[in-house]
Amino acid sequence: MGDRINPWSSEESPDLARLFSEFGIEPIESVVNDIPNVPYFIRRGIVVGHRDYGLIADAMRTGRPFHVLTGFMPSGHPHLGHLMVMKEVVWHVQQGGSGYVVVADREAHGVREIPWGACAAFGEEYLRCLYALGFVGETYYQSRNAKLAALAFEAGTKVNFSELQAIYGFGAETALSHAVSTITQVADILYPQVDAGPAPTIVPVGIDQDPHIRLTRGIAHKLRMFTVEDRGTHISVRSKEAPVAAMGEVHQAFPGSAKYEGHVDVSGGRCTEVATVVREIERRHGGYGFFTPSSTYHRFIPGLTGGKMSSSVPESTIGLFEPADVVLKKLMAAFTGGRATSAEQRALGGEPDSCPIFFLNLFHMVEDDAVLGEIRRRCLAGEILCGQCKKETVSLVLAFLERFREKMDETAHLLSGRE
Ligand code: TRP
Ligand code: SF4
Repeated sequence: MGDRINPWSSEESPDLARLFSEFGIEPIESVVNDIPNVPYFIRRGIVVGHRDYGLIADAMRTGRPFHVLTGFMPSGHPHLGHLMVMKEVVWHVQQGGSGYVVVADREAHGVREIPWGACAAFGEEYLRCLYALGFVGETYYQSRNAKLAALAFEAGTKVNFSELQAIYGFGAETALSHAVSTITQVADILYPQVDAGPAPTIVPVGIDQDPHIRLTRGIAHKLRMFTVEDRGTHISVRSKEAPVAAMGEVHQAFPGSAKYEGHVDVSGGRCTEVATVVREIERRHGGYGFFTPSSTYHRFIPGLTGGKMSSSVPESTIGLFEPADVVLKKLMAAFTGGRATSAEQRALGGEPDSCPIFFLNLFHMVEDDAVLGEIRRRCLAGEILCGQCKKETVSLVLAFLERFREKMDETAHLLSGRE
């Protein structure tokens, strides 16, 4: 990865590295060579970490099925800060994944107290954006999906309040619906495998969602009847809660295998093939046969005011439904990485890596790596001043929004009558 387009590569933040190693998240570099057509959000260092992305890279390379799912909480209008994860989902669908998008209205209502009508209206805005980006697949509202509720209930048998307390800090005052929305998100992440059959599932999220991913991975494992492990000399199929008959079927499925109390040892054969057969047996006996879900973690686009891009600070965001004149005003007022005077900037250069205008280009506005590299170079060399640079970026943003709205209109029919 060339550091001309990845501003983070040379000075990786130690905080992020510590966070990753504390929670067992792998740096994305560990799988980058296995990914066919590395997308710009990985090349540019926007997606930084993953869990088990190797499963997804394999599926993409071999054309085997995989799912991609993410969710949006409809607690406000969608803005540029939500665009990255939408693009990640669309990209994975284009690479062969079956797509799922959740409108987390139970979470918005249960945790943020958003009225149901507003949840529905905001949810629709998110879905319109997704279709405009080329999303193909299933979408649902948590509150309208009975199969999801049943799955959430089942998943709830594998978690207790002390775990919720440890993970989320829940206490005696926590509303029960808050806990329900947590287990609903677990069900969201497992839902594609119940809806369309077990397959590796990638869940692209921001790092703040990792507690849900960890909880779900634990529950997916607990809901399995079997574990399958390569022991070098043989493959061990262990029963966790498998019915005796299912255990017998595993033994029969592999001639020459040895059956013991609680496990069957298979010699010869590949682990993934044994795992597939065991999954089918598990499903026939009423189990789920889940693959433990995979995840990726992206950085957040900085807000126009220099801090986070957040609906609670309207000047920090660019709304995907906001009128052009409002967007223009916010951009003109935006913070940059410029110096106090033009003379100083010509002498020292600007600071693109702490400039929200540069990050707009890096995240969304400039597709060509060479063009982006050139913007960064000219800024660093003091060859371009912020006034000019901003002007160029503003015209890209306004053109982008105009095209985006045309796409929303063209794809509006995909939304109606579906939910
Ligand atoms: N909790 C997520 C948010 O706050 C939304 C969400 C709900 C979600 N279900 C999900 C995200 C499943 C990823 C996967 O934005
Ligand atoms: Fe940001 Fe452009 Fe100014 Fe550099 S020249 S600091 S990229 S606005």
